[in-house]
Amino acid sequence: MRKFLLSTLFVVLPAAVAFAQSAEDTAKARMAYFELLGFEMHGLAAMAKGEVDYDADVAMAHAKDLKALTGYTISDLFAPGTSNADLPGKTRAQPAIWENMDSFQEKGKALFVAVDELNAAAGNGLDALRPAVGKLGAACKGCHDDFRAKDF
Ligand code: HEC
Repeated sequence: MRKFLLSTLFVVLPAAVAFAQSAEDTAKARMAYFELLGFEMHGLAAMAKGEVDYDADVAMAHAKDLKALTGYTISDLFAPGTSNADLPGKTRAQPAIWENMDSFQEKGKALFVAVDELNAAAGNGLDALRPAVGKLGAACKGCHDDFRAKDF
């Protein structure tokens, strides 16, 4: 099942599917998806940094939501023709994504692994949560460094 998800998650769809939505709407939906990832991550990071008190139920809820988000098939959000070369000023997704899909998928896998480990750790106290959040943050950054432009 995991293998199936991984192999379908970042696959580039045929043009017929890709152009069912306008390129701009696709980029908007993509950013909204990542906003949700960022929202859940923010709550976890605040706990890991001690800005808010550790709460096992809250931590687990964030972890579960991240797990749900990694179950979302995002291939259509990465339709061809939606990079920042195609839509200047409207997205930060770099053409490198489509040119190095294998490497991009590896970064996606690292996210999957980190989210699974987070789910195992989140309810086990702050000392367990901290390293799991650190690993998750590294997975986010690992992809952003290579594939997300710094500015619009
Ligand atoms: C496999 C690659 C990849 C991984 C892993 C990844 N991101 Fe991103 N992220 C992107 C790309 C590409 C964009 C740019 C999307 C765009 O502008 O169209 C982005 C954009 C974002 C944005 C900005 C959204 C906006 O409205 O402009 C946030 C916030 C974000 N990511 C958070 C996260 C968090 C938090 C994680 C880890 C839990 C994460 N991302 C993991 C590739 C990734």
